[in-house]
Amino acid sequence: MSRDERPKAKGRTAFGIDIGGSGIKGAPVDLRTGEFTADRVRIPTPQPATPPAIAQVVAQIVTQFGLRKSVPIGVTFPAVVRHGVAQSAANVDESWIGTDIERLLRAATGRQVLAVNDADAAGYAEVEYGAARDVPGLVMVVTLGTGIGTALINNGRLVPNTELGHLEVDGVDAETRASDAARERDNLSYADWATRLQRYFDELERLFSPDLFVVGGGVSKKYDEYLPLLHLRTPIVPAALRNAAGIVGAARLAAEAL
Ligand code: BGC
Repeated sequence: MSRDERPKAKGRTAFGIDIGGSGIKGAPVDLRTGEFTADRVRIPTPQPATPPAIAQVVAQIVTQFGLRKSVPIGVTFPAVVRHGVAQSAANVDESWIGTDIERLLRAATGRQVLAVNDADAAGYAEVEYGAARDVPGLVMVVTLGTGIGTALINNGRLVPNTELGHLEVDGVDAETRASDAARERDNLSYADWATRLQRYFDELERLFSPDLFVVGGGVSKKYDEYLPLLHLRTPIVPAALRNAAGIVGAARLAAEAL
């Protein structure tokens, strides 16, 4: 598919909000470049991270920027999000499960909101503006953090909610062994962690045969410590947008959908 056939974003600016277990971050995004048009705001995630508590913080961030009503808003959420509804909850309160995130945030902000899985947003941003820009075929973005998030994008089209961090590898849920949190928990050297990553990426490669892997998440800035140790047929590169990716991808997806 050529770039012309891909979904188009309406308008020049959209607003992205990244809802995470420790912080809620928002910034306006220039849709032509994928860059922030103003400094990002970060507010610690309230504890417990319940729907009303998070909705209040999202409303505060939106108000702070004094956005025009026409600016689309996209939010990321660390869970399976089907048609705006959370189907799971990672690092946020269990009461999110079954919550219509879009309806909740529309009521809180008075605006249309699109809600998507966090890795899907980050992955889409890498395809539109980052490490996988102009890469044809199947791109798999893997975010290594508290959990493992995945995004599968084929010729610019996102297949949402792939949840391959939960792929069972050697009898266990992959993210419990190969996430960045697992590296820290088990006090692993980068070389030892790379052995676990090798096992995980081998499995992804065997099952999906992607054209490119992009590795995101906070630890992607240390990529030279572990990516060179991996031996795969598929090229593997670090994410380019780092911790901006979630905000940028959510903004972009909202501008295409709303
Ligand atoms: C969740 C995913 C999420 C990922 C990264 C996983 O535990 O199941 O929905 O994308 O963590 O936050």
